[in-house]
Amino acid sequence: MNSLTSFILHPLITLNIGNDDDEPAGIDVIYLLSIFFALGIWLVFQRYQKMHNSPVPFDVAVPLPADPAWESVPIRDPHLESHLEQEEITPALSLPGRRYITSFDPATGLHIGTYIADNEDEIRGKIHMSANAQKKWKRTTFTQRRRVVRSLMKWLVDNQEVCARVACRDSGKTLIDAALGEILTTCSKMEWLLNHGEAALKPERRASNLMMSYKRSEVHYEPLGVVAAIVSWNYPLHNAWSPILAAIFSGNGIVVKCSESVIWSTTWFVGAMTACLRACGHDPELIQVVCCYPEQAQALTKSPLIKHITFIGSEEVGRKVAIDATEHLTPVTLELGGKDPAIILPGTDLNKWISLWMRGVFQNMGQNCIGIERLIVHADQYDDLHDLLSERTKKLRVGSVLAASPEGYVSTIDGGAMISGQRFRALERVLRDAAEGGANVEGGAQYNHVYLENGSFFTPTIVGPVDASMDIAQQELFAPIAVIMPYENIEEAITIANGTRYGLGASVFGPDQKQALNVAKRLECGMVSVNDFGVFYINQDLPFGGTKSSGYGRFGGPEGLRSLTNTKAIIVDRWPSFIQTSIPKVLDYPLRSLYQSWEFSSGLVRFLYADGWRPRIRGLVALVQAARK
Ligand SMILES: *[C@@H]1O[C@H](CO)[C@@H](O)[C@H](O)[C@H]1NC(C)=O
Ligand SMILES: *[C@@H]1O[C@H](CO)[C@@H](O)[C@H](O)[C@H]1NC(C)=O
Repeated sequence: MNSLTSFILHPLITLNIGNDDDEPAGIDVIYLLSIFFALGIWLVFQRYQKMHNSPVPFDVAVPLPADPAWESVPIRDPHLESHLEQEEITPALSLPGRRYITSFDPATGLHIGTYIADNEDEIRGKIHMSANAQKKWKRTTFTQRRRVVRSLMKWLVDNQEVCARVACRDSGKTLIDAALGEILTTCSKMEWLLNHGEAALKPERRASNLMMSYKRSEVHYEPLGVVAAIVSWNYPLHNAWSPILAAIFSGNGIVVKCSESVIWSTTWFVGAMTACLRACGHDPELIQVVCCYPEQAQALTKSPLIKHITFIGSEEVGRKVAIDATEHLTPVTLELGGKDPAIILPGTDLNKWISLWMRGVFQNMGQNCIGIERLIVHADQYDDLHDLLSERTKKLRVGSVLAASPEGYVSTIDGGAMISGQRFRALERVLRDAAEGGANVEGGAQYNHVYLENGSFFTPTIVGPVDASMDIAQQELFAPIAVIMPYENIEEAITIANGTRYGLGASVFGPDQKQALNVAKRLECGMVSVNDFGVFYINQDLPFGGTKSSGYGRFGGPEGLRSLTNTKAIIVDRWPSFIQTSIPKVLDYPLRSLYQSWEFSSGLVRFLYADGWRPRIRGLVALVQAARK
């Protein structure tokens, strides 16, 4: 029996043998009662904790298109070679003067639905609703906000397959791409908010100085109001949830504008969040989704009620958003894509890392802002790398995880569809130019799927050797294309890596970690993984963003959360009843004498800041003399 148990059991033992003991029995009874009392308090506390912290369950109906057996009319994509005209799907009940957004599965071509695009009035209305709800939400405690996040996390983990299938249906991706790019990343964001969000946002003390030594300095991070996030289509779940989580955790309301390509899934994913808010007893109007044509988007970007805009998308549109935002001096975070290099240093074991490069290039069919767009390899290892990639890439199968494969076809697929065929001609052109410039292109064209004839597929492609002057080395491809660029020495590798207009992410591979780190430090970009791919995003304590034409500002990490707040500096007296600022007579308006005031203030500057103690003492003497006159 250890000492603790014997201590607790002591009164029981003494009670049993009762009167044989010297001690009066009454004391032991009180002792026993107090142990039960303490236990009771502890249980009540635990219950209270559970009541206020445990995830709140909520239900969201599973939409029919998430079912692989779901059927609908196929739509022809006008950009696909085999189809020259688009079939119009007009809603049964169309309203005059309204515009519609047609939603379809890019892997099967199946029509999911047709939705009314928001007009300016509706957008303004949604901003107002969020602003109203935010008035109450901003006063919630971190415990309440964590409970919402915890409830969302439980729901997402419990319903991950449905969520993945919804993302697959709307964007054509595969379950694995959804699991890694949508669900894992979102869970990692929620875990970070639960564990570290409050620490990043709670008021913090700042250092003081000699002159202000009697003051206490603090920084407070206050909610801004309503923020906006204009996000891209490549990760419909993550791109919507991530900015919403950050916004509401920091006490804001949010309006998310999704891409027309993923209106169906985004509405459903965000609907789950509002269901969660409602289940937790908060106003679901805090979170709003907008989907509109570009002409109406200014109702959001130029709104005086929007206090911050996060934009994820193209450089061209990002620039427009930044210009619109100047109307009300709205701060903007821009994430505008990249041309991420993977530098493979001499002597790197290619066999060891090939799997990471395959994922880096082909994750989400290359429609990944931090996907590897350039493999920069030493000329001596060029052929080996090309062969390794080629061998694996040839075996990649593309298709839909939501369509049954007919008899005689494999059911496992590696890659999904592209969001649409819109960029296929441009991609084929840039690949043709590379071939004319001397590069060897394997793949390189739209893929006419054997049984998914209405899907937008692109053949996984390898192109190399590519040199920096080719378009393919400069443009963001956002496609399943491995671009291999050989170099002669490390300086040249760094020049190639830094040599595009972009600067988002990068990776450096090599046998010597110190050397790899030195190369990492010389890259013009916002994030680098050493001997890994994209993992700076799995640790959500790190800020996410880029430099140069990849944009500015950061989301993710403490930087991202704080960017959604008003950083307020507050300075108060340390000992208010003992010392407070008073203006000495010699400086008091109206001044007695300009000369004396100058002697005093210049003496003060010398006393506080002169180099060495002699001039400082002379400064002190001068200021005391000036004050006494
Ligand atoms: C492709 O679309 C056309 C036109 O809508 C349709 O007739 C055809 O059955 C579709 N093919 C498949 C495999 O769904
Ligand atoms: C990136 O590389 C280029 C070319 O070598 C070089 O001029 C530039 O200074 C590098 N950037 C940094 C931040 O070192």
